[in-house]
Amino acid sequence: MTETIASLLQEGRTFYPPEELVKNSNVKKFMEKHGIENYEELLEKAKDTEWFWNEMVKEVGIEWYSPPKKVLEWEPPFVKWFIGGKYNIAHDALDKQAKLRKNKVAYIWEGEPGDVRKLTYGELSREVNRFANVLKEMGVKKGDRVTIWLPMIPELPIAMLACAKIGAIHSVVFSGFSEKALLDRILDAEAKILITADGFYRAGKTIELKNRADSILGSAPSVEKVIVYERCGVSTNMEDGRDYWWHEVLKGIPHSCETEQLDANDILFILYTSGTTGKPKGVIHAHGGYAVGVASTLKMIFDLKEDDIWWCSADIGWITGHSYIVYGPLILGATSIMYEGAPTYPAPDRWWDIIEKYGVTVFYTAPTAIRMFMRLGEDYPQKHDLSSLRLLGTVGEPINPEAWLWYYKYIGNEKCQIMDTWWQTETGMQLISPLPITPLKPGSATKPFPGIEADVFDSEGNSLYKKNAGGFLVITKPWPAMLRGLWRAEERYISTYWSTYKDIYFTGDAARIDEDGYFWIQGRLDDVLNVSGHRIGNSEVESALVSHPMVSEAAVVGKPHEVKGEAIVAFVVVKSHVKPDEKLKKELTEHVAKEIGKIARPDEIYFVSDLPKTRSGKIMRRVCRAVMLGKDPGDISTLANPEAVEVVKKAAETGEICYG
Ligand code: PRX
Repeated sequence: MTETIASLLQEGRTFYPPEELVKNSNVKKFMEKHGIENYEELLEKAKDTEWFWNEMVKEVGIEWYSPPKKVLEWEPPFVKWFIGGKYNIAHDALDKQAKLRKNKVAYIWEGEPGDVRKLTYGELSREVNRFANVLKEMGVKKGDRVTIWLPMIPELPIAMLACAKIGAIHSVVFSGFSEKALLDRILDAEAKILITADGFYRAGKTIELKNRADSILGSAPSVEKVIVYERCGVSTNMEDGRDYWWHEVLKGIPHSCETEQLDANDILFILYTSGTTGKPKGVIHAHGGYAVGVASTLKMIFDLKEDDIWWCSADIGWITGHSYIVYGPLILGATSIMYEGAPTYPAPDRWWDIIEKYGVTVFYTAPTAIRMFMRLGEDYPQKHDLSSLRLLGTVGEPINPEAWLWYYKYIGNEKCQIMDTWWQTETGMQLISPLPITPLKPGSATKPFPGIEADVFDSEGNSLYKKNAGGFLVITKPWPAMLRGLWRAEERYISTYWSTYKDIYFTGDAARIDEDGYFWIQGRLDDVLNVSGHRIGNSEVESALVSHPMVSEAAVVGKPHEVKGEAIVAFVVVKSHVKPDEKLKKELTEHVAKEIGKIARPDEIYFVSDLPKTRSGKIMRRVCRAVMLGKDPGDISTLANPEAVEVVKKAAETGEICYG
């Protein structure tokens, strides 16, 4: 295998899109319609923001209750799109589809044990209406927050869409997060309702949800009612007047529900994401612009057509699932796959089995998953007929050329264009990505989507466009699915994204743009880790460790990892009376899992007597990381305790407890 990949991997090789793909692509048709000759001309013409996004509105068939008077109002750092438009995303995702595509399947869902459910647009719309009526009966009103802690089951999109329909704001919490993380998000959003399940199936096990939620609900006074979907038959205590079974509250509920006619700029959802402090940020997205952004990127980048079978393997608990499992595909009236469980259960070919079984045509996943499958070997995909695939995609982290080529060869059979899409929870939609007409360079997300203006700046704010020099990735003009702020944290919104350069969106990523104008994303600049494509704040893990009664200080840093991208390494100082040992390491690992979730568990823990600090007492993660990686820590003379550097170094080298 390595040999074939090596021969494919020639430095600087460009992969041209298959002619068939280009000829029939949605983007090509769009260009023909407007007399646009080539890619460069498309990018140039799309700089006319009003024109381009108005055209995208038509392309994806957005239906307003009353049309907007203006496309964009930009008063940095606040943006409004489609001003004056009356709208609800649920209309395009559901109401319209229930008429146009009543009997077309919206979701083919497969549970981990192998159970299958297919929901047509007609059925989905009916279920959403019923659930929206339940929420209304429970007193949920426009603008109220509803926290949803559900696994990958159809009830998750149903609950989200029901909120949208009545103008409530959903806040989905990833089902892999801990109950403590759930509590933090409920408290921040002041959610009135919690929607959860008894549990779900993952890697052959039952993971409980409701029983765990019970342990924090006493601390969440805003939650008036809890609706519980029965997925696994786990018994749970149902508190009278607070807890309701999903199937019971739906009894006798009418199938129709008026969709609330909102302002295009009303809030659709909050989604929490990690930042540089211990407290996650509540990223806000609004109905109108978000709808246009997600549907147009999906149509133009992933080229979705009426008969495609689309599979985005992300979890709906992340932005990728919000945008490209729920809203984007439904607005386009697509058929999507949804899978509940672990990718390798019961065997490492589960995903390839799903692709073959349902004839998936367009597949979107994460580099970390590709690297994992690459390690397991190509025998697994080769056992299956994957010839239905015509287009592939990745998201979440830079894809290394080896993984890119493996994906290209063994999953795409050397005939599928790979869309390496760069974007963020904050951007809501894909911003830098190839189109079906774009020549590819493995490892590069290629160029900004039409209408998007991205650049790389040096620290003075000079453009490094086509200079092939590393700098800060920025977006210089607003885009429709741009975040509208952080939930009740305006200052943080301004300081995180708008303070580095005036009126320019700061992404927090390092990148370079090569001589051909191709973007190469290099990773995060701030103290945020990217573990298996998940954003985890170093300080979140540190706060979790320090909340353990035996810990006094912690420094958490990332270390390159073959499959995960980055592994989490923690240097921990315990309290003076504590004797650190292996047992405590295990306990701390489990403690982090309880505080945040299993995804944030440190891969390595080192006990040290001291951590390098500045004179003002700030722990120097940068120094810890450098010595852990055997690199020069740089100038340490300004540290309050330069001797701590040796302690950290010895601990990382020997794995010994460097204490006392
Ligand atoms: O560092 C970039 C990385 O993921 C970050 C965004 O994480 P999150 O908000 O969780 O959203 C992930 C899914 C959209 C970015 O700041 N990232 C995302 N896509 C890519 C990427 N890095 C390199 N290449 C990508 N294609």
